[in-house]
Amino acid sequence: MSIPKPRSTAVTVLALACIAGCGAENVPSMLQPAGTGAERIASLWWLMLGLSIGVFLLVVLLLGYALFHQGNQRDEVPSRTSMALIFGGGAALPLLVIPALFVLTLITMSALAPTEDAEALTVQVTGHQFWWEVEYPDHGVVTANEIRIPAGEPVRLEVTSADVIHSFWVPELQGKIDMIPGRTNVTFIDAAEPGAYRGLCAEFCGVQHALMQLHVIAEPRDEFADWLKRQSAPATEADSALARRGEAIFMATGCAACHSIQGTGADADTGPDLTHLISRTSLAAGVLPTTRDNVREWIRNPQGVKPGNLMPAMEFDEDEWDALVEYLTGLD
Ligand code: CUA
Repeated sequence: MSIPKPRSTAVTVLALACIAGCGAENVPSMLQPAGTGAERIASLWWLMLGLSIGVFLLVVLLLGYALFHQGNQRDEVPSRTSMALIFGGGAALPLLVIPALFVLTLITMSALAPTEDAEALTVQVTGHQFWWEVEYPDHGVVTANEIRIPAGEPVRLEVTSADVIHSFWVPELQGKIDMIPGRTNVTFIDAAEPGAYRGLCAEFCGVQHALMQLHVIAEPRDEFADWLKRQSAPATEADSALARRGEAIFMATGCAACHSIQGTGADADTGPDLTHLISRTSLAAGVLPTTRDNVREWIRNPQGVKPGNLMPAMEFDEDEWDALVEYLTGLD
């Protein structure tokens, strides 16, 4: 085996960093900000990177100078220039740069405080192992794993947790904020343009931490208002014999002991509210796109799809599964 050359090692490391950090599509990046909060964080990040590169180059330059100009001066008293460099570079420069960065960081942090706008929409997000409960308290809307917001408007975000510590992070829109049981942390998000922004849990919270995902979907004002109106309505009634049979199975078995469906007798809050299940883009907190087949797969084999989640596997006959899927896929 040959020893890799330093240059090829450096190239490999750089290439790997690029593949991991910038190459993959659909990976949200805080360096592609789409909201005010993320923009401020990205600006600070670039400034810090620029300064670090400047300081690094200066140190390398001085080091090079020292290496090539050693001469025979070891016993001599250091010159005035040397002393100036030692105190300037070793004490004065850090004393200037570090407090300046500290102040800039404080200014950025205070700019991330919740919006003062009393008109702003409030969204409450509660972290669960391993999904997100999303509530619009002023509109009587409860949903899961998806936050719809009007584009171009700041939204007040109140976050907490129902079990362990999670962390709410939508890199393109805002910095991370911890979700702590028994405490409500407040911040804001906004998205300049309509679009879907992926979010993730940023605090290790158990076996399915990596699959605790959500989407923030920013829509034009009127589309958002339509969505909010539809979401505040009770569930669509089962409209076929098969769907009604599915509803009866849902209510009579374990399903209704954990989930809510507005307008029916199901009123539990261990699992996500299913009133408008099919209107959401994903199932199981971003694991599967919402399709009929995926609904079937998810409810039949929850531990196969997302091992360690709290949804138990249920036993039904084939025709009972058909009825349940028919009922659930009608919840639009
Ligand atoms: Cu929730 Cu990690």
